[in-house]
Amino acid sequence: MNKKIGFGIIGFGSIAGHHLKAINDLEQAEVVAVSARNTSKLAENKNLEGVKIYSDYDQLINDPEVDVVSICTPSGFHLEPAIQAAQAGKHVIVEKPLEIDIERSKEIIAACEKHNVKLACVFQNRYSEDYMKLRKTVDRGDLGKLVLGNAYIKWFRGQEYYDTSDWKGVLSGDGGAALINQSIHTIDLLLEVMGPVKSVRGKITTLTHNIEGEDLGVAILEFESGALGTIEGSTSIRAGFPEKLEIHGERGSMILEKGELVHNLNGMVLKDTNGGESGASDPMAIDYKLHSAQFKEFVDNIINDTEPRVNGNEAIKSVEVINAIYKSSRENKVVYLS
Ligand SMILES: NC(=O)c1ccc[n+]([C@@H]2O[C@H](COP(=O)([O-])OP(=O)(O)OC[C@H]3O[C@@H](n4cnc5c(N)ncnc54)[C@H](O)[C@@H]3O)[C@@H](O)[C@H]2O)c1
Repeated sequence: MNKKIGFGIIGFGSIAGHHLKAINDLEQAEVVAVSARNTSKLAENKNLEGVKIYSDYDQLINDPEVDVVSICTPSGFHLEPAIQAAQAGKHVIVEKPLEIDIERSKEIIAACEKHNVKLACVFQNRYSEDYMKLRKTVDRGDLGKLVLGNAYIKWFRGQEYYDTSDWKGVLSGDGGAALINQSIHTIDLLLEVMGPVKSVRGKITTLTHNIEGEDLGVAILEFESGALGTIEGSTSIRAGFPEKLEIHGERGSMILEKGELVHNLNGMVLKDTNGGESGASDPMAIDYKLHSAQFKEFVDNIINDTEPRVNGNEAIKSVEVINAIYKSSRENKVVYLS
């Protein structure tokens, strides 16, 4: 059997465990190394038996057994390891958001292009079965002309969520808060379905937390197609409601709630109440299976030299729109993207 593709994970906090499980579930890949600033706890982690542990990510990147680097550092610290990995000729998969602003995101894309390595950004919700059904239905034209798209992310995080992190809600580490950290998943889906955005009018505020970033943001989008859209994203809404994506076309509507279709073109869908999952009130209440689906595709992309579905140019779209919402709110004006 051919050698498995070796993954190294940089940053080993909350989400890295999902990467570890998702990668090790695959036949053709395995995690060979992890790096974290504080390695003392990692030595006791049973899931890391046989995995090399580095305190310095340079060593991980330069390990010849590492073919792909998976970046799980805070959002504003994706750039440096991504560039170093690309320079070392390693493929890169980076957690969402690609980076906290457009310039830093573009630098990652340019480095991966220059060094001819694959780049993907984790947006695992694109891999939910019901979302893919929705997309296919829209792409086939079954909804007719798209009229309106809404992303509602009325989630809740307590102050302790921010107080126990040195980067969440901090502008240099998170780039903002509720929109760029939590709401970005549903915003990414909205943008993929509705297409390019022409203009954004947004308002953000911080009402119930002591943080630098926003805990509430609302925006009106005008798509190039002429359709309109809205975003309502928050970490202040008790007790945290399942996120919703609503797509309305001239011939019907499709509504996705926590990744499950609750309304399709023919009407209401009966739901299995145990299905679906959401980080509405608990950040870790997400399974790793959707990460697995995206990692499987990335490994296939590497083996077959094909382009990842969520490549850099796809991933930067949500960063552009969220940064436009921030700018619109700051400058109290409509921001044009195209
Ligand atoms: N896809 C998802 O559903 C999902 C869920 C949670 C987090 N995330 C993303 O994953 C990333 C990490 O989030 P988390 O909640 O696991 O964070 P975390 O704070 O729990 O862990 C971050 C890790 O990075 C290390 N680190 C911090 N600063 C670093 C630096 N400058 N250089 C190198 N290492 C550094 C920390 O020691 C820690 O091991 C973020 O970008 C976040 O947006 C994605």
